[in-house]
Amino acid sequence: MTARRLPARHDPIRPRGERAIGISVDGEPVPGIEGQTIAGLVLASGRLAWRTTSAEGRPRGLFCGIGVCFDCIVTVNGERDVRACQRRATDGDVVETQHDELPEAAR
Ligand code: FES
Repeated sequence: MTARRLPARHDPIRPRGERAIGISVDGEPVPGIEGQTIAGLVLASGRLAWRTTSAEGRPRGLFCGIGVCFDCIVTVNGERDVRACQRRATDGDVVETQHDELPEAAR
């Protein structure tokens, strides 16, 4: 996988047309086309990691790309723990990255 915007004709997700959409990620506008996942838009904006692990603060982003690992979780329109690789972006989505601390009992 590459961190760039694919032309629709080469995108295996087969976006519906070329209708431009826009989301925000931590307040920054991120453009895309209808049908792309949130992870696709974030990667295309140049970010390879968008959260950190609770235990050691290590960077995480897209890993499996198929909804299994949960490395890509973000908050979308106030809904926490959304897998960015599984959610199609819709125009106006507000995406926030997550950086959770370990609970005190786990330290
Ligand atoms: S990258 Fe693994 S669940 Fe999204």
